[in-house]
Amino acid sequence: MKKIAIIGFGVVGRGCADLLSDNAEQIKKLTGDSVGIAHILDLRDFPGTPYEALVTHDFADIENDAEVGTVIETMGGSHPAYEYTMRALRAGKNVVTSNKEVVANFGDEFLREAEKAGVCYRFEAAVGGGIPVISPMISMLGQNKIREVRGILNGTTNFILTEMFTYGTSFDAALSDAQARGYAERDPSADILGLDAARKLVILTALATGKLFPVEKIHTEGITAIRAEDVKAAAKIGCSIKLLGRCTVGEDGEVSALVAPFLLPEELPLAGTRGVYNAVEVVGEPIGNVMFYGRGAGAGATASAVIGDLAQILCSGRHSAFPIFEKTSSGLADFANFSSQTYLVLDRKYSAFAEKAFPRAAFLESENECVLLTERMTEEAIDRTLAALGAEAISRIRMLG
Ligand code: HSE
Repeated sequence: MKKIAIIGFGVVGRGCADLLSDNAEQIKKLTGDSVGIAHILDLRDFPGTPYEALVTHDFADIENDAEVGTVIETMGGSHPAYEYTMRALRAGKNVVTSNKEVVANFGDEFLREAEKAGVCYRFEAAVGGGIPVISPMISMLGQNKIREVRGILNGTTNFILTEMFTYGTSFDAALSDAQARGYAERDPSADILGLDAARKLVILTALATGKLFPVEKIHTEGITAIRAEDVKAAAKIGCSIKLLGRCTVGEDGEVSALVAPFLLPEELPLAGTRGVYNAVEVVGEPIGNVMFYGRGAGAGATASAVIGDLAQILCSGRHSAFPIFEKTSSGLADFANFSSQTYLVLDRKYSAFAEKAFPRAAFLESENECVLLTERMTEEAIDRTLAALGAEAISRIRMLG
């Protein structure tokens, strides 16, 4: 029997234990041996559950148990996940995680430490919930030049946007529903302000370029400023609004990365991604466009990715290909140079001036506001034009393209 430990027994940790038990025979066939949970580290005791006898409150019990070969880290947050991960790797144990925060912040250190210790560090569940995207990017797309990665990377916000705009649910009710279903982070502001998607984008960008950019260097906007009027205006021009994470890699290797709501023409496959579903589109040379789609959050989907990593480790050990990341801020393009067609809403008093200031813009019909779609312009040029008008945008949403 292969012994493992789970640290953090919340929605995902419990989902992993349930999956190991529910599909035990299948997992045994897959990996050639049965998998047993030796320890569960949590602050709680879970009395009356089958897991009660496995609970410890001391990580040293796991670190010092030579029979435990792999630690599953589903704690979330940077600390103490960072310290426990380092201790596990240094003790010669593989680590599998669903924790995007710790991967985005310290993935470079963990991968180096794993290499040194001759063990594996894997994080399929950190991006896209149950969607296999990290492993395919490494093992099947690594021979391509990756030019762009773009995706709907947060299930909670996609669920909220879909509920609000399809069924007319209020933002608060949709958020509560997402939390009740176990999609949202403990602190849902990480979801709705775009930080969770930014962490995932940092990981995908590192897979595409080898560079692990600091999350705080990524231009990040959430969904809290999106109004029902914007969604209606977008629909009138054949678009939906989605929170996207996007990175592009120029010929010179410069990387442009941002998380923000985008207008997506309805015919794009990403536009049809609804509810808690995530989708990631990778554009590479010579492969072209590849799309990954599936449930981006929730216990079962995320557990599937965690246990998938575990199964790969048990099958192939440390010899499976894995990247090394370099933590750096260099090579990240200045957001002021990002260019796109942009949907702008201004107070109606600017209408006459806006027509002169944005001479090649398309002006959309609106009774109360000045609504326009600019030609392709840089952020800096839009800022400069708005400053000259003395106007602040009520809404400002970029068009994908
Ligand atoms: N809160 C995250 C989401 C969970 O909604 O996508 C999965 O990473």
